[in-house]
Amino acid sequence: MAKPFWGELDTTRVCCAHPIILPMDERRKADSASAGRAEKLRADLRRHEHLYYVMDAPEITDAAYDALMNELKRLEAEHPELVTPDSPTQRVGGKPAEGFKKAPHSRPMLSLDNAYSAEELADWDRRVRELAGGLPVEYTAELKLDGLSVALRYVATGDGGARLFAGITRGDGQTGEDVTSNIRTIRSVPLTISAERVKKAGVPPAFEVRGEAVMPEAGFLRLNEEREQQGLPAAVNPRNAAAGTLRTLEPSIVAQRRLDFYAYFLLVDGEYLAQGQSATLDALTALGFRVNPHRGRVHSVQDMVKFIDAAEGQRATLGYEIDGVVLKVDAHTTQQRLGYTGRAPRWAIAYKFTAKSGETEVREITVQVGRTGKLTPVAELKPVFIGGTTVSRATLHNADFIERLGLRLGDTVKVERGGDVIPKVVEVVKHAEDSGEKRRFVFPSKCPACGSDVVRAEGEVDYRCVNADCPAKLRETLLHFGRREVMNIEGLGEAVVQQLLERGMVHGVAGLYKLTVEQLAELDRFAKKSAAALAEEIEQSKKAGLARVLMGLGIRFVGERTAELLAEEFGSIDALMAASTEELERVEEVGPRISQAILQFFAQEKNRELVESLRAANVDMTAEKKQRSAQLAGLTFVLTGTLPTLTRDEAKRRIEAAGGKTAGSVSKKTSYVVAGEEAGSKLDKARELKVPLLDEAGLMKLLEATTEAG
Ligand code: IVH
Repeated sequence: MAKPFWGELDTTRVCCAHPIILPMDERRKADSASAGRAEKLRADLRRHEHLYYVMDAPEITDAAYDALMNELKRLEAEHPELVTPDSPTQRVGGKPAEGFKKAPHSRPMLSLDNAYSAEELADWDRRVRELAGGLPVEYTAELKLDGLSVALRYVATGDGGARLFAGITRGDGQTGEDVTSNIRTIRSVPLTISAERVKKAGVPPAFEVRGEAVMPEAGFLRLNEEREQQGLPAAVNPRNAAAGTLRTLEPSIVAQRRLDFYAYFLLVDGEYLAQGQSATLDALTALGFRVNPHRGRVHSVQDMVKFIDAAEGQRATLGYEIDGVVLKVDAHTTQQRLGYTGRAPRWAIAYKFTAKSGETEVREITVQVGRTGKLTPVAELKPVFIGGTTVSRATLHNADFIERLGLRLGDTVKVERGGDVIPKVVEVVKHAEDSGEKRRFVFPSKCPACGSDVVRAEGEVDYRCVNADCPAKLRETLLHFGRREVMNIEGLGEAVVQQLLERGMVHGVAGLYKLTVEQLAELDRFAKKSAAALAEEIEQSKKAGLARVLMGLGIRFVGERTAELLAEEFGSIDALMAASTEELERVEEVGPRISQAILQFFAQEKNRELVESLRAANVDMTAEKKQRSAQLAGLTFVLTGTLPTLTRDEAKRRIEAAGGKTAGSVSKKTSYVVAGEEAGSKLDKARELKVPLLDEAGLMKLLEATTEAG
């Protein structure tokens, strides 16, 4: 028989007793053109990710990037054997973790001593120079990012490059937690580094990078908005939010939070680079890491103060939180001479900004009504200048908080303002002279906007207005509806909403779709052109799709992610409205609380009418439905040996996600045995019982055929 052009058939380890799956043949068919194209796409995507996430200098549009990504996804779906673990498509491939494994650090992750004034910096500088005994003393100045430090281990790929092997939190400094699957979702963390980059950086291809994982402000604000919608307490600050995110057991949630990573140390064999800190930052840049661009070399305390002042000036506009400046002795030899105290290097110090705060008097406490009817107490302050702006209002969070502070009207309080975040009262500094019962704040039992009753549900800290038609709720609902993340109606701001309501032009979100250009042109400061532009925005919003409409409806606990999952699952508002508790709870993340909220929402006549009005206005309330198939239902798989790319757990998860079962031992009831490298007795047993065998590619094919049908 003539040899086929691709050479000998590989019939060695895995045979295929089942007629529909011929993995080895499939592998042969993955023609080299596809392999080449996949390789090229991966390289291009990596380059564009670096340009976008690290350099902030994209060369192509988001749409063009998505197109490349989709092409690669398609190609990998057609040829599962082409999937590599470090493919840009695999950032979120991680399984939900059951907990994190402990991981010892290659070298302790220490802390830093703090300085709070120029005098303290001068003291430190003096000590450094004394101890340096004539060795060069020059410093690098870096921003002190307010996140959490993590260590990333890279191992050699064999071709001179490196790949991410583990990501570990600081923990107690000696031992951290292995959060690799979460770290992989951070786009500015390279999964692989080319030989060329490694060479340029002048390091061997196995090393450790340390730096700060942060949650940018935009993501933090979005997160809190979602948490509020879900009735959860707000995250206190981006650092806590980043820390919580990295410890989340579900990598897909971590991926959505869009953490960022800034590198500042590079270790080879547990040692810092001999070239010093500045050269380290350059090497990190060469390797493709994001290194904070705000850095400098300073030679004196005077220079340090200049750098610190500049950093404070930029603080509000950076887009991420910083809490100071880190100064490090640059030269490695000097660092070694200086050494360490128990907890920190003597060669570095953190200058900490003092929190931007001020003291002032509380003149009054008012109560704001939010979209969900939530009542938030606000301190009306005697205006005070804090960190460059005048603050006259600050949030008091909720009734319990006021109680805990022991706050009375007229008291002097400390107010803090961080970045762009809303100012908040943090403590009572001095009680007013006649701070008696009279000055105690009594939380209103009626809604300040409409006079209806307010209630506090069991186990919740917030009071809510019960009136569905409360004008304050309506105003906030309209504003929410127009937000970029919701129906994206540019121009539907506070002034416009206020007028629309005052003039009785709308009575709810559906009313927006009845507005004419002529009507809009009557609004204050509106001309024909701006009216036409707003009308067009409203028209365009009809195409936003089901997920956004769901968010816009304002169903309690239904934030962005839940709305998207619901839309994918049900595909139309009608299917969603007809869904039972059981069907709703089949959706990931939907538990009894959310399913109840959805059922209650649609049980109300008024809300069903709202849906009908939106339908009458031709608002698209459909979505592409994700075909969830249970085609593997009834099939039992046994995994054995090491698969080339999937871990055992990942393979198990995928099988189960497609409705299949997995078992530990082979029996007559086993539908398939999935065998990898070094499969042992289970493989023999399978052969004996004539159970069909699959290799990883075969399994992938089977999964493809069943899960991506939509
Ligand atoms: S150097 C020997 N550089 O601040 C360990 N730390 O207060 C020194 N941090 O745990 C770390 N930005 O999480 C260094 N540019 C920077 C930093 C930085 C933020 C954090 C880091 C560290 C903490 C110490």
